Amino acid sequence: MKIDLSSDNPLKHATPALVLGCFEDGESELFIRIDAALDGCLKRLSANREFTGKLNATRLLDTLGRLPAERLLLVGLGKKKELDAGRQRQAAGSAVQALRTARVATFALSQHLLSDGDTTLEAVCEGALLGSYSFDIYKTKDKKERFTFSGMTLLLPKGVSVKSARSKVDRAGHLWNGVNLARDLVSHPGNVATTGYLASAAHGLSERHGLSCRVLERSDLEKLGMNALVAVGKGSAEPPRLIVLEYRGDGAKGRPVVLVGKGITFDSGGISIKPGAGMEEMKTDMSGAAAVLGTMEAAAALKLPVNLVGVIPTAENMPDGLAYKPGDVLTSLSGLTIEINNTDAEGRLILCDALHYARTEFKPAAMIDLATLTGACVVALGHEASGLMGSDQRLVDSLKKAGERCGERLWELPLWDEYGEAMNSDIADLKNAGGRDGGTITAGWFLKQFSGSTRWAHLDIAGTAWSDKSRPCSPKGATGVGVRLLIEYLRSR
Ligand code: BES
Ligand code: MN
Ligand code: ZN
Repeated sequence: MKIDLSSDNPLKHATPALVLGCFEDGESELFIRIDAALDGCLKRLSANREFTGKLNATRLLDTLGRLPAERLLLVGLGKKKELDAGRQRQAAGSAVQALRTARVATFALSQHLLSDGDTTLEAVCEGALLGSYSFDIYKTKDKKERFTFSGMTLLLPKGVSVKSARSKVDRAGHLWNGVNLARDLVSHPGNVATTGYLASAAHGLSERHGLSCRVLERSDLEKLGMNALVAVGKGSAEPPRLIVLEYRGDGAKGRPVVLVGKGITFDSGGISIKPGAGMEEMKTDMSGAAAVLGTMEAAAALKLPVNLVGVIPTAENMPDGLAYKPGDVLTSLSGLTIEINNTDAEGRLILCDALHYARTEFKPAAMIDLATLTGACVVALGHEASGLMGSDQRLVDSLKKAGERCGERLWELPLWDEYGEAMNSDIADLKNAGGRDGGTITAGWFLKQFSGSTRWAHLDIAGTAWSDKSRPCSPKGATGVGVRLLIEYLRSR
């Protein structure tokens, strides 16, 4: 969606729809003037409690020629005192989703309400862009019915320079591209988004932004001794791969931040096969990989002054005559041996080799992995927060803070040594699956064994990568979780 900027007076601006933010507990000057133009219609709506300004509530009205805008979309901002960038982001996303429902493709968004229109502009743009997402490329019928947004005009208050606003809009656009890339990759089905598809997405990204990109193929992985990653891919016709992307920020010195993303393109469970009901959701098991690619895309476009490496182990977890089996013992790249007691605990296997590779190859200043790792995390936190664990409290705390600022919330879980008892094997150094109890933590504890002395944090995004319901900045489906979080974290470093 294209974003234009204008200093037009919203009362004089001609547009198919004007979006007006409204408080629950007070009226802005613009609200009063628009209400007067509409013969008190807005005040009647609030007197009847038809529209109260509750956060994210919307109401579409026809202006019947009383304003140059053909329609007015009211969107609730909640209580005046509670308004912050996060709520404005949400309100903008809710407004755009209401416009999609009403099939209004072009609209103007008034920024006149904001006391500090300039500083929150980026959040409003982000919300509008994120809320406009849809994924309908596999719908071939009724093409005429298909809806796409054409453009949004931001109406800036006097005193806000269009030039400074433009750079904020552009920044929001770069971030949006990254989130979109992640959402698209997750939305594609497993027969399309294969390990090879992820590799070519990485190549495409590297060409767009001049990054370096390497893909280690199965034979390379075997030679290196990445036996855990190779084992997980054995049951599939699609070979496992390791994708490595490097971005060098202008003027950035020193060791890189390394992002590692779980890239299971489909998780059937393997020989420890999952129940059929809901198995289709396991096409999203590469959401960590998608988040890493989306973050690299946005970081490069935003020209962030950091050195950043993305490492993506990718494989398809399938049952087959060649598949790895319960009881197998694997020697991981680190040398630690792993007894397989459940082939459905495959994420930690591909990650343990990737973490060891990343830490020895790049000597990271910080290493952060993202993975749809455990169903237990969904049980513990539902869909409102990702699980957060790590070996470095400062890194954990700054991720948590970044999450609060951008609205992608994280909740910390402990990684005490006692949890490791569940991972003891009779035959090898470790087993790959603990019991049901503390399943998110025992998985995190397993990964920790491969992080060495590197500052490391782990995000379990099993409950947040996909949403069965529509949210203000994230329509139903792939959320692109992790991209905004990581960009916010990198910006704050
Ligand atoms: N990809 C799944 C975890 C998952 C579950 C992601 C639900 C998103 C939604 C992971 O590979 C898995 O199967 N984990 C097992 C681990 C168990 C065997 C120790 C699980 O959570 O049941
Ligand atoms: Mn699994
Ligand atoms: Zn999985």
